[in-house]
Amino acid sequence: MSRPRTSIKASQFTESVIREMTRLSNKHGAVNLSQGFPDFAAPEAIKQAACDAINGDVNQYAITWGAKRLRDAIAVDFERRYGVPVDPETQLTVCCGSTEAMMATMLAIVDPGDEVIVFEPFYENYGPDAVLSGATPRYVTLREPSNADSDWTFDQDELAAAFSNKTRAIIINTPNNPTGKIFTREELEFIARLCQKWDVIAVTDEIYEHILYDGATHVTMSALDGMADRTVTINSVSKTFSVTGWRVGWTISPPDLAAAIRKVHDFLTVGAAAPLQAAGAAALALPEAYYRDLAQTYATKRDRLLTILERAGFVCFKPRGAYYIMTDIAGFGFPDDVAFARHLVTDVGVAAVPGSSFYRHPTAGRTKLRFCFCKKEETLAAAEERFAKLRAPA
Ligand SMILES: Cc1ncc(COP(=O)(O)O)c(C=O)c1O
Repeated sequence: MSRPRTSIKASQFTESVIREMTRLSNKHGAVNLSQGFPDFAAPEAIKQAACDAINGDVNQYAITWGAKRLRDAIAVDFERRYGVPVDPETQLTVCCGSTEAMMATMLAIVDPGDEVIVFEPFYENYGPDAVLSGATPRYVTLREPSNADSDWTFDQDELAAAFSNKTRAIIINTPNNPTGKIFTREELEFIARLCQKWDVIAVTDEIYEHILYDGATHVTMSALDGMADRTVTINSVSKTFSVTGWRVGWTISPPDLAAAIRKVHDFLTVGAAAPLQAAGAAALALPEAYYRDLAQTYATKRDRLLTILERAGFVCFKPRGAYYIMTDIAGFGFPDDVAFARHLVTDVGVAAVPGSSFYRHPTAGRTKLRFCFCKKEETLAAAEERFAKLRAPA
């Protein structure tokens, strides 16, 4: 009997390695420092807002492009922070997390044959997003820092050479997963000039907007001269409010792009969970002190995990934002990152993500491993204890 056929698209990418690591971690009872979800409680006030919404019978479909209260709250917040006016009636689309926001955006703006520029190492969804929308991803390398004072960066000539008449969009993730890089204003201005020259849309994933360290500031692409008209800004409640399971995210874009994104979104999912949209609006009303505490709490966790990893023999790239640490594992002498990650999860009892899952070529990232630190102190302490079993590089 012949086997049912699956699509060529689906054969072009693998299952998520990050989510697979979480399953392996559960199987082996390991400390899970792989998938980036907090293991501590979300803020009481927003959990109460979610319960109130359900009890108050906010239980039917919201308007497909998002409940008005949430869209209004997002628009006010964005304008207040970045000085970019947003019309919640025509520019906002609420989606099921930024994952769907990215997919809906790509399906709305890209045609088969178009190219989409993606920086690597990348958040692993971007490649499949490009493939599913029929685009060809063009990768540009973020080169690792040469010393403690420098950051991951791209070569301007390499980036300029990646743009052509075929380029439809460029995806920028700042603060960046997995590197912790924060794109500087100068870097974003350089990218903006290329977008304008080649008539390209910038799609920016700003989900770690509030998780910044050492006085770093977040620059949003749409605030740069001439970019509000050609930027889709993607964000969500997942990381800022520690509710990755709620699946509420959004796009901010010029109205003509929003009209296309809204149509795609409607047929993909109809809408994000209505009561959680109501709670999302409550989350955006939290005082500014909430965001300061969030960044401070993560700064402490970052420093704690850096110490743990360095003591265990890892070479760490200190992140400037987001909640991951990329490490170099060459000194441990394993054949590759996957073998090392398996050893860590099964024999040592700590789960991390193999570096190669952030690169297109299996050979790249072979000496890298990513850990996350969005975890309780007990979890980080448990990882520290387990690392005692790890033989440090000679
Ligand atoms: C850069 C980046 N974008 C998007 C996501 C997924 O976000 P959401 O939960 O809003 O779908 C993640 C999750 O780890 C991420 O790191």
